Amino acid sequence: MSSVLNTLILVTLCGSLCWAAEAGIELPHLDFKPIKQLPADIPTCQENDLNINECIKQAFQQITPRMKYGISELNIPALDPYELGKSSYNYNSGLLQGRISMKDVVVHGLSEGIMDKVDFRLKNNRVRMELNSHIPKMFVEGLYKADIKLNDLKLTPKGRFNVTLTDVSMRARPMGELYERDGHTYLRLTKFETEPKVGDLRFYANGLVPDPALNDVILDFINQYWRQLYEAMLPETLATWQPLILKTANDFFAALPFDMIVTKS
Ligand SMILES: *[C@@H]1O[C@H](CO)[C@@H](O)[C@H](O)[C@H]1NC(C)=O
Repeated sequence: MSSVLNTLILVTLCGSLCWAAEAGIELPHLDFKPIKQLPADIPTCQENDLNINECIKQAFQQITPRMKYGISELNIPALDPYELGKSSYNYNSGLLQGRISMKDVVVHGLSEGIMDKVDFRLKNNRVRMELNSHIPKMFVEGLYKADIKLNDLKLTPKGRFNVTLTDVSMRARPMGELYERDGHTYLRLTKFETEPKVGDLRFYANGLVPDPALNDVILDFINQYWRQLYEAMLPETLATWQPLILKTANDFFAALPFDMIVTKS
């Protein structure tokens, strides 16, 4: 009897604790090899160029289409399509309570990105940037599993999903500091805040409920109220992603001397 009770307590504890421990993202492994020299076709900018903002903008514009195949000399993997590993999110807003896990997620469209505005400031070894960019169309597909509560209704849907996002705009404000190592200057980011905004969104999923007709009714509802749902889901989604983006950006910049891309005169 007591062992049954023990098991029950364990299961209950795990129900709340293992849940929290499990939340997060698992990305495909990336290898950042130290970069000794830039390939000749990689654009660079000069630190004291009066038009450095325009130079950086043009550089992004030249590099972005090449994201399709990746640029191995810069440790940039193929980003279009971009294959995500597993990720899971815990949501706890009035609209949506529970956990959503996704796997085999593929993101299309990143190489069509357009850099609209760059504001680069460098002063006393501190770097502040404002990058405004947009992607005209993105398509994301994958598998999902959820465990959610809507009022007293408990749902455990599971299936395939896809989302078409149009006009995704992003304001990023990376901030960091320059430091010296082995005769080169490197950038270490301290902050990387982003604010993705979506123009329009179209969502499809099967398996929301067993009945396909009711599944369609739910899809209509979600597509009608996607903006409210998006806003309810954004804070937790960003909270899960932002530390990882910062870490990945720092691994990238620890391998690529900053004075190779923004050269001193
Ligand atoms: C998205 O999923 C729906 C439902 O499975 C499917 O009918 C549709 O073709 C998919 N969209 C694309 C662009 O693959």
